[in-house]
Amino acid sequence: DNPPSRALRGLESKSFAQKTFKKRLPVTLTNVVDDVHRSFSSLDASHKLKIDQGKEIVYELSQLRHHVQRDKPVKLVEDDLEDAKLWAKAQENLDDDIEYTYQSLTWLFSECLVYRDVHRIIQTRSEWKGYDPFRRQKEASFKSTLSGSIELVERLAPLFSRSNVDKALFVEMLQLALWGNRADLSLINDLTAQSSIHEVSNLSVESLASQNSNILANDTVKAWNYLEAVKDKRIDIILDNSGFELFTDLLLADWLLQHNHASSIHFHGKAIPWFVSDTTQSDFHWVIDQCAAQIHPEMQSFGLRWKNYLNESKFVFSAHPFWTTPYPYWHLLDVAPDLYADLAKSSLTIFKGDLNYRKLVYDCDWPVDTSFSSAIGPLALDPKSNSTSRFPPVLALRTAKSDPVVGLQGGIVQASKLDTIDKEWRLNGRYALIQFHYSTSK
Ligand code: F6P
Ligand code: MG
Repeated sequence: DNPPSRALRGLESKSFAQKTFKKRLPVTLTNVVDDVHRSFSSLDASHKLKIDQGKEIVYELSQLRHHVQRDKPVKLVEDDLEDAKLWAKAQENLDDDIEYTYQSLTWLFSECLVYRDVHRIIQTRSEWKGYDPFRRQKEASFKSTLSGSIELVERLAPLFSRSNVDKALFVEMLQLALWGNRADLSLINDLTAQSSIHEVSNLSVESLASQNSNILANDTVKAWNYLEAVKDKRIDIILDNSGFELFTDLLLADWLLQHNHASSIHFHGKAIPWFVSDTTQSDFHWVIDQCAAQIHPEMQSFGLRWKNYLNESKFVFSAHPFWTTPYPYWHLLDVAPDLYADLAKSSLTIFKGDLNYRKLVYDCDWPVDTSFSSAIGPLALDPKSNSTSRFPPVLALRTAKSDPVVGLQGGIVQASKLDTIDKEWRLNGRYALIQFHYSTSK
Protein backbone atom coordinates (compact mmCIF):
# COMPACT_ATOMS: atom_id res chain seq x y z
CA ASP A 1 0.00 0.00 0.00
CA ASN A 2 1.16 3.45 -0.79
CA PRO A 3 0.63 5.74 2.14
CA PRO A 4 -1.06 8.96 1.11
CA SER A 5 1.21 11.89 0.49
CA ARG A 6 -0.55 14.87 2.01
CA ALA A 7 0.64 14.36 5.58
CA LEU A 8 0.10 17.46 7.72
CA ARG A 9 3.20 19.44 8.73
CA GLY A 10 3.88 22.31 11.09
CA LEU A 11 5.55 24.29 8.31
CA GLU A 12 2.20 25.16 6.80
CA SER A 13 1.75 28.71 7.94
CA LYS A 14 -1.13 29.46 10.35
CA SER A 15 -2.04 25.76 10.50
CA PHE A 16 -3.19 24.13 13.72
CA ALA A 17 -0.06 21.95 13.43
CA GLN A 18 2.08 25.08 13.49
CA LYS A 19 0.17 26.47 16.45
CA THR A 20 0.80 23.16 18.23
CA PHE A 21 4.57 23.70 18.01
CA LYS A 22 4.60 27.44 18.60
CA LYS A 23 2.04 27.66 21.40
CA ARG A 24 0.33 24.48 22.60
CA LEU A 25 3.36 22.23 23.17
CA PRO A 26 5.38 25.00 24.85
CA VAL A 27 2.46 25.47 27.31
CA THR A 28 2.33 21.72 27.93
CA LEU A 29 6.10 21.63 28.50
CA THR A 30 5.92 24.59 30.89
CA ASN A 31 3.29 22.71 32.88
CA VAL A 32 5.56 19.65 32.99
CA VAL A 33 8.46 21.78 34.26
CA ASP A 34 6.19 23.22 36.95
CA ASP A 35 5.05 19.78 38.03
CA VAL A 36 8.62 18.46 38.26
CA HIS A 37 9.63 21.51 40.24
CA ARG A 38 6.72 21.13 42.58
CA SER A 39 7.65 17.49 43.11
CA PHE A 40 11.15 18.22 44.42
CA SER A 41 10.99 21.74 45.84
CA SER A 42 9.54 20.65 49.18
CA LEU A 43 12.00 17.77 49.70
CA ASP A 44 14.61 18.06 52.46
CA ALA A 45 18.36 17.59 52.04
CA SER A 46 18.16 13.83 52.62
CA HIS A 47 16.75 13.60 49.07
CA LYS A 48 19.76 15.29 47.51
CA LEU A 49 20.02 12.90 44.56
CA LYS A 50 16.36 13.30 43.66
CA ILE A 51 16.62 17.10 43.96
CA ASP A 52 19.76 17.22 41.79
CA GLN A 53 18.19 14.99 39.19
CA GLY A 54 15.02 17.08 39.31
CA LYS A 55 17.08 20.16 38.45
CA GLU A 56 18.67 18.32 35.52
CA ILE A 57 15.23 17.31 34.29
CA VAL A 58 13.99 20.90 34.50
CA TYR A 59 17.04 22.08 32.55
CA GLU A 60 16.60 19.50 29.78
CA LEU A 61 12.85 20.06 29.53
CA SER A 62 13.40 23.80 29.21
CA GLN A 63 15.87 23.14 26.40
CA LEU A 64 13.36 20.88 24.70
CA ARG A 65 10.71 23.60 24.96
CA HIS A 66 13.12 26.11 23.43
CA HIS A 67 13.93 23.74 20.54
CA VAL A 68 10.28 23.02 19.80
CA GLN A 69 9.21 26.65 19.96
CA ARG A 70 12.14 27.90 17.85
CA ASP A 71 11.82 24.99 15.41
CA LYS A 72 15.37 23.70 15.88
CA PRO A 73 16.64 20.52 14.20
CA VAL A 74 15.30 17.31 15.67
CA LYS A 75 17.84 14.88 17.18
CA LEU A 76 17.16 11.23 17.72
CA VAL A 77 19.08 10.18 20.81
CA GLU A 78 21.24 7.19 20.01
CA ASP A 79 21.66 5.71 23.49
CA ASP A 80 18.99 3.17 22.70
CA LEU A 81 19.81 2.19 19.15
CA GLU A 82 16.76 0.03 18.53
CA ASP A 83 14.52 2.80 19.71
CA ALA A 84 16.33 5.41 17.61
CA LYS A 85 16.08 3.13 14.55
CA LEU A 86 12.36 2.67 15.07
CA TRP A 87 11.79 6.42 15.21
CA ALA A 88 14.08 7.09 12.24
CA LYS A 89 12.32 4.44 10.16
CA ALA A 90 8.94 5.96 10.91
CA GLN A 91 9.94 8.90 8.75
CA GLU A 92 10.80 7.27 5.47
CA ASN A 93 12.65 9.05 2.67
CA LEU A 94 14.67 11.17 5.06
CA ASP A 95 17.70 12.64 3.37
CA ASP A 96 20.82 12.21 5.56
CA ASP A 97 22.23 15.57 4.56
CA ILE A 98 19.27 17.63 5.65
CA GLU A 99 18.67 18.76 9.22
CA TYR A 100 14.98 18.23 9.84
CA THR A 101 13.20 20.49 12.24
CA TYR A 102 10.05 19.84 14.28
CA GLN A 103 7.94 21.63 11.72
CA SER A 104 9.53 20.21 8.57
CA LEU A 105 8.89 16.63 9.68
CA THR A 106 5.30 15.42 9.74
CA TRP A 107 3.17 16.84 12.53
CA LEU A 108 2.31 13.39 13.83
CA PHE A 109 5.96 12.32 14.02
CA SER A 110 7.27 15.45 15.73
CA GLU A 111 4.43 15.73 18.21
CA CYS A 112 4.85 12.10 19.27
CA LEU A 113 8.62 12.65 19.51
CA VAL A 114 8.13 15.50 21.98
CA TYR A 115 6.10 13.27 24.34
CA ARG A 116 8.62 10.44 23.89
CA ASP A 117 11.45 12.87 24.78
CA VAL A 118 9.66 14.14 27.88
CA HIS A 119 9.46 10.53 29.02
CA ARG A 120 13.11 9.81 28.14
CA ILE A 121 14.38 12.89 30.01
CA ILE A 122 12.52 11.82 33.15
CA GLN A 123 13.04 8.07 33.05
CA THR A 124 16.81 8.22 32.62
CA ARG A 125 16.96 9.59 36.21
CA SER A 126 17.01 6.77 38.77
CA GLU A 127 15.03 8.65 41.45
CA TRP A 128 12.28 9.65 39.05
CA LYS A 129 11.33 6.28 37.62
CA GLY A 130 7.57 5.85 37.51
CA TYR A 131 6.89 9.59 37.89
CA ASP A 132 4.09 10.77 35.57
CA PRO A 133 4.23 14.55 35.05
CA PHE A 134 0.56 14.61 34.03
CA ARG A 135 -0.82 12.55 36.91
CA ARG A 136 -1.80 15.52 39.08
CA GLN A 137 -3.76 17.09 36.20
CA LYS A 138 -5.47 13.82 35.27
CA GLU A 139 -6.53 13.14 38.85
CA ALA A 140 -7.72 16.68 39.49
CA SER A 141 -9.75 16.66 36.31
CA PHE A 142 -11.44 13.34 37.20
CA LYS A 143 -12.37 14.75 40.62
CA SER A 144 -13.81 17.89 39.09
CA THR A 145 -16.12 15.82 36.87
CA LEU A 146 -17.20 13.45 39.63
CA SER A 147 -20.58 15.09 40.17
CA GLY A 148 -21.36 14.79 36.43
CA SER A 149 -20.28 11.12 36.55
CA ILE A 150 -22.54 10.45 39.54
CA GLU A 151 -25.50 12.02 37.74
CA LEU A 152 -24.84 9.72 34.81
CA VAL A 153 -24.67 6.63 36.98
CA GLU A 154 -27.92 7.56 38.75
CA ARG A 155 -29.63 7.86 35.41
CA LEU A 156 -28.12 4.72 33.87
CA ALA A 157 -28.25 2.25 36.77
CA PRO A 158 -31.97 1.40 36.35
CA LEU A 159 -31.59 1.16 32.57
CA PHE A 160 -28.59 -1.15 32.86
CA SER A 161 -30.51 -3.71 34.84
CA ARG A 162 -33.18 -4.06 32.13
CA SER A 163 -32.61 -7.38 30.48
CA ASN A 164 -33.91 -6.56 27.03
CA VAL A 165 -31.41 -5.42 24.45
CA ASP A 166 -32.24 -1.84 23.79
CA LYS A 167 -31.07 -0.07 20.68
CA ALA A 168 -31.88 3.34 22.15
CA LEU A 169 -29.55 2.62 25.03
CA PHE A 170 -26.79 1.53 22.67
CA VAL A 171 -27.15 4.85 20.84
CA GLU A 172 -26.85 6.68 24.13
CA MET A 173 -23.86 4.63 25.36
CA LEU A 174 -22.00 5.38 22.13
CA GLN A 175 -22.80 9.06 22.40
CA LEU A 176 -21.56 9.21 25.98
CA ALA A 177 -18.27 7.58 25.00
CA LEU A 178 -18.13 9.93 22.01
CA TRP A 179 -18.70 13.23 23.80
CA GLY A 180 -16.62 12.02 26.75
CA ASN A 181 -13.74 12.52 24.32
CA ARG A 182 -14.14 16.29 24.61
CA ALA A 183 -12.64 16.01 28.08
CA ASP A 184 -9.09 16.14 26.78
CA LEU A 185 -6.62 18.13 28.84
CA SER A 186 -4.35 19.12 25.97
CA LEU A 187 -7.31 20.92 24.38
CA ILE A 188 -8.83 22.34 27.55
CA ASN A 189 -5.44 23.85 28.47
CA ASP A 190 -5.69 25.83 25.30
CA LEU A 191 -7.50 29.03 26.23
CA THR A 192 -8.91 29.66 22.78
CA ALA A 193 -10.90 26.42 23.01
CA GLN A 194 -13.96 27.66 24.83
CA SER A 195 -14.81 24.38 26.47
CA SER A 196 -14.52 23.88 30.16
CA ILE A 197 -14.27 20.54 31.85
CA HIS A 198 -17.65 21.16 33.52
CA GLU A 199 -19.32 21.82 30.23
CA VAL A 200 -17.95 18.61 28.71
CA SER A 201 -18.99 16.46 31.63
CA ASN A 202 -22.62 17.54 31.43
CA LEU A 203 -24.02 14.68 29.39
CA SER A 204 -27.66 14.79 30.35
CA VAL A 205 -30.27 13.43 27.94
CA GLU A 206 -31.01 17.01 26.82
CA SER A 207 -27.41 17.93 26.20
CA LEU A 208 -26.80 14.72 24.22
CA ALA A 209 -29.86 15.44 22.10
CA SER A 210 -28.80 19.02 21.48
CA GLN A 211 -25.42 17.85 20.19
CA ASN A 212 -26.86 15.32 17.76
CA SER A 213 -26.72 17.58 14.76
CA ASN A 214 -23.01 18.11 15.45
CA ILE A 215 -22.29 14.46 14.65
CA LEU A 216 -21.19 15.00 11.07
CA ALA A 217 -21.09 11.35 10.03
CA ASN A 218 -22.96 8.80 12.03
CA ASP A 219 -22.67 5.06 11.41
CA THR A 220 -24.37 4.09 14.68
CA VAL A 221 -27.07 2.05 12.91
CA LYS A 222 -24.50 0.10 10.88
CA ALA A 223 -22.53 -0.60 14.04
CA TRP A 224 -25.70 -1.68 15.86
CA ASN A 225 -26.71 -4.05 13.05
CA TYR A 226 -23.29 -5.63 13.18
CA LEU A 227 -23.29 -5.85 16.97
CA GLU A 228 -26.70 -7.46 17.11
CA ALA A 229 -25.31 -10.37 15.13
CA VAL A 230 -22.35 -10.68 17.51
CA LYS A 231 -22.91 -12.41 20.81
CA ASP A 232 -20.50 -13.21 23.58
CA LYS A 233 -17.39 -12.17 21.74
CA ARG A 234 -14.38 -10.15 22.61
CA ILE A 235 -14.53 -6.42 21.97
CA ASP A 236 -11.45 -4.18 22.10
CA ILE A 237 -11.40 -0.51 23.06
CA ILE A 238 -8.31 1.46 22.05
CA LEU A 239 -8.50 4.03 24.79
CA ASP A 240 -7.76 7.70 24.68
CA ASN A 241 -8.01 9.94 27.75
CA SER A 242 -8.20 9.01 31.40
CA GLY A 243 -10.65 10.69 33.77
CA PHE A 244 -14.15 11.45 32.54
CA GLU A 245 -13.62 9.97 29.06
CA LEU A 246 -12.35 6.70 30.53
CA PHE A 247 -15.35 6.68 32.84
CA THR A 248 -17.71 6.86 29.83
CA ASP A 249 -15.70 4.08 28.12
CA LEU A 250 -16.11 1.89 31.19
CA LEU A 251 -19.87 2.52 31.11
CA LEU A 252 -20.01 1.44 27.46
CA ALA A 253 -17.89 -1.64 28.21
CA ASP A 254 -20.07 -2.56 31.18
CA TRP A 255 -23.24 -2.21 29.10
CA LEU A 256 -21.76 -4.40 26.33
CA LEU A 257 -20.99 -7.12 28.87
CA GLN A 258 -24.31 -6.92 30.70
CA HIS A 259 -26.27 -7.08 27.49
CA ASN A 260 -24.26 -10.05 26.23
CA HIS A 261 -22.73 -8.28 23.28
CA ALA A 262 -19.34 -9.24 24.58
CA SER A 263 -17.88 -11.83 26.91
CA SER A 264 -14.76 -9.76 27.50
CA ILE A 265 -13.57 -6.24 26.87
CA HIS A 266 -9.88 -5.70 26.13
CA PHE A 267 -8.73 -2.16 26.86
CA HIS A 268 -5.59 -0.77 25.23
CA GLY A 269 -3.86 2.05 27.08
CA LYS A 270 -0.50 3.79 26.86
CA ALA A 271 2.82 2.39 28.10
CA ILE A 272 4.16 5.88 28.92
CA PRO A 273 2.57 9.24 29.85
CA TRP A 274 1.19 10.51 26.53
CA PHE A 275 -0.51 13.61 25.08
CA VAL A 276 -1.20 14.85 28.63
CA SER A 277 -4.40 13.01 29.46
CA ASP A 278 -4.04 9.57 27.83
CA THR A 279 -4.73 6.51 29.99
CA THR A 280 -1.81 4.57 31.46
CA GLN A 281 -2.19 1.35 33.42
CA SER A 282 -2.04 3.20 36.71
CA ASP A 283 -4.67 5.75 35.56
CA PHE A 284 -6.94 2.89 34.53
CA HIS A 285 -6.81 1.26 37.94
CA TRP A 286 -6.93 4.59 39.75
CA VAL A 287 -10.20 5.61 38.07
CA ILE A 288 -11.84 2.25 38.83
CA ASP A 289 -10.60 2.37 42.44
CA GLN A 290 -11.94 5.91 42.84
CA CYS A 291 -15.38 4.82 41.65
CA ALA A 292 -15.38 1.82 43.99
CA ALA A 293 -14.37 4.05 46.91
CA GLN A 294 -17.26 6.54 46.57
CA ILE A 295 -19.91 6.70 49.28
CA HIS A 296 -22.56 7.18 46.63
CA PRO A 297 -24.10 3.67 46.54
CA GLU A 298 -24.68 3.35 42.79
CA MET A 299 -21.29 4.73 41.89
CA GLN A 300 -19.70 2.37 44.38
CA SER A 301 -21.48 -0.63 42.96
CA PHE A 302 -20.40 0.23 39.41
CA GLY A 303 -16.80 0.58 40.63
CA LEU A 304 -16.92 -2.70 42.56
CA ARG A 305 -18.43 -4.50 39.57
CA TRP A 306 -15.59 -3.19 37.38
CA LYS A 307 -13.04 -4.49 39.89
CA ASN A 308 -14.74 -7.87 39.71
CA TYR A 309 -14.64 -7.81 35.94
CA LEU A 310 -10.88 -7.30 36.22
CA ASN A 311 -10.55 -10.26 38.60
CA GLU A 312 -12.64 -12.44 36.30
CA SER A 313 -10.72 -11.26 33.20
CA LYS A 314 -13.88 -9.84 31.71
CA PHE A 315 -11.99 -6.56 31.68
CA VAL A 316 -8.42 -6.95 30.42
CA PHE A 317 -5.96 -4.05 30.27
CA SER A 318 -2.75 -3.91 28.25
CA ALA A 319 -0.45 -1.18 26.97
CA HIS A 320 1.50 -2.33 23.92
CA PRO A 321 4.47 -0.04 23.09
CA PHE A 322 3.18 0.36 19.52
CA TRP A 323 0.52 2.81 20.70
CA THR A 324 3.25 5.22 21.81
CA THR A 325 5.27 5.13 18.60
CA PRO A 326 4.77 7.70 15.81
CA TYR A 327 3.36 5.10 13.42
CA PRO A 328 0.01 5.59 11.74
CA TYR A 329 -2.10 2.44 12.02
CA TRP A 330 -1.55 1.68 8.34
CA HIS A 331 1.75 0.18 9.62
CA LEU A 332 0.27 -1.90 12.44
CA LEU A 333 0.88 -5.25 10.75
CA ASP A 334 4.54 -4.55 9.80
CA VAL A 335 5.60 -2.78 12.98
CA ALA A 336 3.69 -4.74 15.64
CA PRO A 337 2.65 -8.11 14.17
CA ASP A 338 2.06 -9.52 17.67
CA LEU A 339 -0.41 -6.75 18.49
CA TYR A 340 -2.08 -7.20 15.10
CA ALA A 341 -2.47 -10.93 15.74
CA ASP A 342 -3.94 -10.22 19.15
CA LEU A 343 -6.45 -7.69 17.78
CA ALA A 344 -7.39 -10.12 15.01
CA LYS A 345 -9.00 -12.25 17.76
CA SER A 346 -11.48 -9.49 18.50
CA SER A 347 -14.91 -9.09 16.95
CA LEU A 348 -14.87 -5.29 17.09
CA THR A 349 -12.21 -2.63 17.64
CA ILE A 350 -13.39 0.72 18.98
CA PHE A 351 -10.86 3.54 18.50
CA LYS A 352 -11.39 6.48 20.81
CA GLY A 353 -10.45 10.07 20.27
CA ASP A 354 -8.63 12.49 18.08
CA LEU A 355 -5.08 11.13 18.08
CA ASN A 356 -6.26 7.58 17.34
CA TYR A 357 -8.29 9.03 14.46
CA ARG A 358 -5.28 10.92 13.11
CA LYS A 359 -3.30 7.68 13.21
CA LEU A 360 -6.10 5.67 11.59
CA VAL A 361 -6.27 8.05 8.62
CA TYR A 362 -2.51 8.67 8.38
CA ASP A 363 -2.85 12.27 9.60
CA CYS A 364 -3.44 13.52 6.08
CA ASP A 365 -5.24 16.40 4.53
CA TRP A 366 -7.84 14.15 2.85
CA PRO A 367 -10.70 15.52 0.76
CA VAL A 368 -13.67 15.38 3.15
CA ASP A 369 -15.62 13.08 0.82
CA THR A 370 -12.95 10.33 0.96
CA SER A 371 -14.58 7.24 2.39
CA PHE A 372 -13.59 6.17 5.91
CA SER A 373 -12.76 2.69 4.59
CA SER A 374 -10.25 4.00 2.08
CA ALA A 375 -8.71 6.42 4.57
CA ILE A 376 -7.90 3.63 7.04
CA GLY A 377 -5.94 1.84 4.28
CA PRO A 378 -4.69 -1.65 5.10
CA LEU A 379 -6.93 -2.05 8.17
CA ALA A 380 -9.85 -2.20 5.76
CA LEU A 381 -8.16 -4.80 3.58
CA ASP A 382 -7.63 -8.45 4.08
CA PRO A 383 -3.83 -8.77 4.32
CA LYS A 384 -3.37 -12.46 3.66
CA SER A 385 -6.87 -13.53 2.74
CA ASN A 386 -6.58 -15.76 5.78
CA SER A 387 -9.49 -15.38 8.14
CA THR A 388 -7.37 -15.59 11.31
CA SER A 389 -5.30 -12.58 10.30
CA ARG A 390 -8.13 -10.36 9.18
CA PHE A 391 -8.48 -7.13 11.03
CA PRO A 392 -11.83 -6.87 12.82
CA PRO A 393 -14.40 -4.17 12.05
CA VAL A 394 -13.30 -0.68 13.10
CA LEU A 395 -15.50 1.80 14.94
CA ALA A 396 -14.07 5.30 15.45
CA LEU A 397 -15.61 7.59 18.10
CA ARG A 398 -13.99 10.98 17.83
CA THR A 399 -14.69 14.61 18.59
CA ALA A 400 -12.81 16.67 16.01
CA LYS A 401 -9.76 18.41 17.47
CA SER A 402 -7.47 18.42 14.44
CA ASP A 403 -7.71 18.86 10.66
CA PRO A 404 -8.26 15.36 9.23
CA VAL A 405 -11.92 14.69 8.49
CA VAL A 406 -13.15 12.03 6.05
CA GLY A 407 -16.50 10.47 5.17
CA LEU A 408 -18.42 13.70 5.67
CA GLN A 409 -22.07 13.01 4.94
CA GLY A 410 -22.77 16.20 3.06
CA GLY A 411 -19.34 16.07 1.37
CA ILE A 412 -17.64 19.22 0.18
CA VAL A 413 -20.87 21.25 0.28
CA GLN A 414 -21.30 20.57 3.96
CA ALA A 415 -17.64 21.32 4.69
CA SER A 416 -17.93 24.75 3.10
CA LYS A 417 -21.16 25.42 5.00
CA LEU A 418 -19.40 24.51 8.23
CA ASP A 419 -16.52 26.79 7.28
CA THR A 420 -18.91 29.73 7.19
CA ILE A 421 -20.78 28.83 10.41
CA ASP A 422 -17.74 27.99 12.52
CA LYS A 423 -14.23 28.49 11.15
CA GLU A 424 -12.79 26.24 13.85
CA TRP A 425 -15.18 23.32 13.32
CA ARG A 426 -12.38 20.83 12.70
CA LEU A 427 -10.52 21.86 15.83
CA ASN A 428 -12.75 22.95 18.68
CA GLY A 429 -14.18 19.61 19.77
CA ARG A 430 -17.77 20.72 19.14
CA TYR A 431 -18.24 18.41 16.16
CA ALA A 432 -17.88 14.68 16.10
CA LEU A 433 -17.71 11.54 13.97
CA ILE A 434 -18.99 8.01 14.54
CA GLN A 435 -17.51 5.97 11.70
CA PHE A 436 -17.66 2.25 11.13
CA HIS A 437 -15.82 0.02 8.71
CA TYR A 438 -16.93 -3.54 8.20
CA SER A 439 -15.62 -5.63 5.37
CA THR A 440 -18.63 -7.39 3.89
CA SER A 441 -16.40 -9.92 2.13
CA LYS A 442 -16.01 -11.71 5.48
O1 F6P B 1 -2.25 18.14 19.52
C1 F6P B 1 -2.72 17.14 18.73
C2 F6P B 1 -3.98 16.53 19.18
O2 F6P B 1 -4.29 15.38 18.42
C3 F6P B 1 -5.08 17.51 19.13
O3 F6P B 1 -5.64 17.56 17.91
C4 F6P B 1 -5.96 17.12 20.29
O4 F6P B 1 -6.32 18.28 20.94
C5 F6P B 1 -5.08 16.32 21.20
O5 F6P B 1 -3.87 16.17 20.53
C6 F6P B 1 -5.46 14.96 21.54
O6 F6P B 1 -6.80 14.69 21.52
P1 F6P B 1 -7.35 13.29 21.97
O7 F6P B 1 -7.07 13.17 23.42
O8 F6P B 1 -8.79 13.28 21.62
O9 F6P B 1 -6.58 12.25 21.17
MG1 MG C 1 -5.66 11.99 24.36
